[in-house]
Amino acid sequence: EKITLTVIKADIGGWVGHSSVHPRLLETAKEVLAGSDLLVDFHVTHVGDDINLIMTHHRGVDSPEIHHLAWNAFLRCTEVAREMKLYGAGQDLLSDAFSGNVRGMGPGVAEMEFEERRSEPVIIFMADKTEPGAWNLPLYKMFADPFNTIGLVIDPKMHQGFRFEVYDLVENKRVVFSLPEEMYDLLVFIGAPGRYCIKAVYSKATGEIAAVSSTQRLNFLAGRYVGKDDPVCIVRCQSGLPAVGEALEPFAHPHLVAGWMRGSHVGPLMPVSVAQSAPTRFDGPPRVVALGFQLANGKLIGPQDLFADVAFDQARRLANEVASYLRQLGPFEPHRLPLEDMEYTTLPEVMARLKHRFTKVAQGVEREVAAAREELGAK
Ligand code: 13P
Ligand code: 13P
Ligand code: MG
Ligand code: MG
Ligand code: MG
Repeated sequence: EKITLTVIKADIGGWVGHSSVHPRLLETAKEVLAGSDLLVDFHVTHVGDDINLIMTHHRGVDSPEIHHLAWNAFLRCTEVAREMKLYGAGQDLLSDAFSGNVRGMGPGVAEMEFEERRSEPVIIFMADKTEPGAWNLPLYKMFADPFNTIGLVIDPKMHQGFRFEVYDLVENKRVVFSLPEEMYDLLVFIGAPGRYCIKAVYSKATGEIAAVSSTQRLNFLAGRYVGKDDPVCIVRCQSGLPAVGEALEPFAHPHLVAGWMRGSHVGPLMPVSVAQSAPTRFDGPPRVVALGFQLANGKLIGPQDLFADVAFDQARRLANEVASYLRQLGPFEPHRLPLEDMEYTTLPEVMARLKHRFTKVAQGVEREVAAAREELGAK
């Protein structure tokens, strides 16, 4: 019998501001999940201000019952959040009525169904203050870069490579690349992580699913800014797939991602433990947590808080240095995102107010000089 591993996350209200989740919300979510007989097992956790429901069951992906259960947990949490007037209570629940599937409704979801192997180590990556494209670079390194993953070279079951399924989030299209042959083609797209996101990775040796990410873009869904769609990603490990350490290794060198303050900045993705996951410096820098589990007939044996390792201290130090360096730019690009990507943006209002003060620049030097003289003379 196949098992389904489903991770559904939502920001139900921040404590304090956008920094963390109040323990009462986590308790409430646990109560709701514990009260259901649909699940084999579950683990409730958070990264920053996002609640993550990690669930195992036998209902396959996109199960209305499982999605409804998560939705109800978030609704109950919203009541508690409203009572405590937490910041942005119910932020990620964009629709009042549940319609069978949380995809496109606000919460982020990553899920996969598979035959549990003799030993099934999995890692749940969860990030705050960034977007799904943040997984592009680490997933590429895990499954395609032999300088990161020596298994691609020395494990016969990995040597053929992997298939990458990529989503175009703007045009809602998908494309599959076969690596290593199509490595350069893949990179053309995933190097633009604001638009092209790696949705899933499959083993070419077995055809099995190896990784899956959440790809919802809240800002497009809602038609207005409601916070970054802080993403999650599931990675299966070992025996023909990256070793646990190969899956974690890309995060040892923090890469730059979009998000951070007001979802409008670029900053380094800092690997942290759950306890370190509340982002406070300029509402950041963006963070990633990795919880490891061994699955045993659907039971989640864990978690192991994988970035708690002191070996990631150096990555945190580097992320802090990069954060300080970028902060010096203040409101200037490329620390602040380019205009097209700006959220909470005041540009239209400012533009409307100042429009009449923008005058045409004449063509040619003489005319400019003449116009300048005229203006001076008029004063
Ligand atoms: P152990 O010898 O500790 O089992 O490690 C084997 C391994 O493959 C590590 O990546
Ligand atoms: P969240 O997406 O984590 O809610 O953050 C939004 C924000 O504006 C942070 O400054
Ligand atoms: Mg928030
Ligand atoms: Mg968040
Ligand atoms: Mg958010």
